[in-house]
Amino acid sequence: MSAVLTCKNIEVSFDGFKAVDGVDLELARGEVHFLIGPNGAGKTTLVDAVTGLAPYAGSVVKDGEELRGKKVHHIARKGIGRTFQTAAVFEHLTVAQNLDIAAGAGRSALSLLRRRRRLPAVVVDTMDRIGLRDAADTPAGTLAHGQKQWLEIGMLLVGDADVLLLDEPIAGMGHDERDTTGRLLHDIAADRAVAVVEHDMDFMRAFADRVTVLHAGAVLASGSVDEVAADPRVQEVYLGTAKEAADAARA
Ligand SMILES: Nc1ncnc2c1ncn2[C@@H]1O[C@H](COP(=O)(O)OP(=O)(O)OP(=O)(O)O)[C@@H](O)[C@H]1O
Ligand SMILES: [Mg+2]
Repeated sequence: MSAVLTCKNIEVSFDGFKAVDGVDLELARGEVHFLIGPNGAGKTTLVDAVTGLAPYAGSVVKDGEELRGKKVHHIARKGIGRTFQTAAVFEHLTVAQNLDIAAGAGRSALSLLRRRRRLPAVVVDTMDRIGLRDAADTPAGTLAHGQKQWLEIGMLLVGDADVLLLDEPIAGMGHDERDTTGRLLHDIAADRAVAVVEHDMDFMRAFADRVTVLHAGAVLASGSVDEVAADPRVQEVYLGTAKEAADAARA
């Protein structure tokens, strides 16, 4: 495994409370890496740290560059993109406009103001990829919940992110939408690193290449779905949930 992002000994404290307490994490291209753990385990805070939203001790290195202390926009420009538990799209703009703006993050303000006669190929290709080509002219605010998440992922893709950190992307989705999302994650992970914060164990089992379990701010276990599910400490934290996972893996 060659890591594209390496986090070492990450610590995030809030008034002396260590929400993230010495976490090591490596994300590799070609992998969908699930971050699981009970409420309050520190999953979102870890993502906040990596993306520059929460100050931390430790080290985050991407492509040989240390990112600790760097500004949010610098980290984004280095190719690290994230989504939030609630989708953040421009509700009044269409799907195509949202993607066009995300694609133009490196363009000057003036060229962004100028209306483009044709959509760039990357915007059209991305609409195909995220299944929203038919919704190109639909205002983002009227999209279904799942479609908004796909649009957000698309915005990271056109922005050239090669490390995607997705915080609970399938929350509120129906079964078919979850399945579509899982396949989309594998599609985009082909040449990128994808980390998914998730609570849904069925979804995790179906789509995880690698799993890291956080508990009380620390890494409890890390490995394949089967390895993690068979870990007694993980089973203890998840009680029934992980035991079922281990039983299912053995069956
Ligand atoms: N800004 C903050 N100030 C103080 N404490 C915080 C702050 N943000 C998070 N915490 C605390 O840090 C811990 C980790 O929170 P975090 O949101 O990272 O958990 P999580 O694993 O994402 O949980 P969930 O699955 O519920 O989203 C929690 O105890 C939370 O209350
Ligand atoms: Mg969270």
